[in-house]
Amino acid sequence: MFICGHISFFPVPVNAQSYKLAVFGQPVAHSLSPRIHRLFGEQLGIDVDYSAIEADIDELAEKLAAFRADGGTGANLTVPLKQAGLRLCTRVDRPARQAHAVNTLHLEDDGWHGYNTDGAGLLLDLDRLGIDPAGRRILIVGAGGAVAGILGPLLDRQPACVTVVNRTAERAERLADKFAHLGDIRGGEIDSASEGSPHDLLIQSTSAGHEGKAVPIERACLTDDASGYDLNYGTAHAPFAEWCRQHGMMTHDGLGMLVGQAALAFNIWTGKRPDIAPTLAALSRD
Ligand code: ATR
Repeated sequence: MFICGHISFFPVPVNAQSYKLAVFGQPVAHSLSPRIHRLFGEQLGIDVDYSAIEADIDELAEKLAAFRADGGTGANLTVPLKQAGLRLCTRVDRPARQAHAVNTLHLEDDGWHGYNTDGAGLLLDLDRLGIDPAGRRILIVGAGGAVAGILGPLLDRQPACVTVVNRTAERAERLADKFAHLGDIRGGEIDSASEGSPHDLLIQSTSAGHEGKAVPIERACLTDDASGYDLNYGTAHAPFAEWCRQHGMMTHDGLGMLVGQAALAFNIWTGKRPDIAPTLAALSRD
């Protein structure tokens, strides 16, 4: 708040600004984002009005314009809007260009600026867990939109190599080709994971867990002390967690990544970066 030319007799609250924010998606009713951002607001003493707005691809432009007219200055986009959102931005950051998807919008003078904080959110969580991607041999199972979002930031941390395997091999090969200029990356069918030296970090990105399945990976393509990280959380994480348990591997779910990408979005909107650990602890208590 800017005060000049007179003396105020009332205490001026720190961070008196209120932020009108929302997540857009379909379905979005069960999104954890409103809860996460309220927890961030409480942690930092920032007033946050964060809602969940149902919108399909055709409705996004209109609903976003209405949100802006109503004072909205920041938004998250989730499935199925991340690609459609890109077209509504006047500027986008490098990870969003690489992934061809935005998960965060911030209103600036010339319109919406788009960001993709998913990959950096994963890195924030890996840092929290003490898993440094630098020099690691990383195996990624799945080649959908989520992988496109994490590959750029992950390769920036200079792993020894990244192998992307997928049920539909061509999707993995296409992603590998697209990101080849950033590091040592190859793509192929699931069985090709066992080619070359074993990997020491397994990232599971498929949606098979939503069908109660774990994608079968040869244990031999992983080192004895390899750990597993699932981009899913909740019930969708259960089959992979069980697979890791059966194969003697430490595993982590993707809730930390969700909170991590949210913390980076919150920073873009407010200039303040929340600590993810207390928020994760609060969510785990729910
Ligand atoms: P997201 O944005 O979450 O990555 P997506 O783009 O729909 O979602 O990608 C889903 C991923 O899960 C894909 O890699 C998909 O494999 P295909 O490209 O062959 O479709 C993978 N997937 C989904 N169900 C699977 C299953 N039952 N077994 C193996 N892979 C599966």
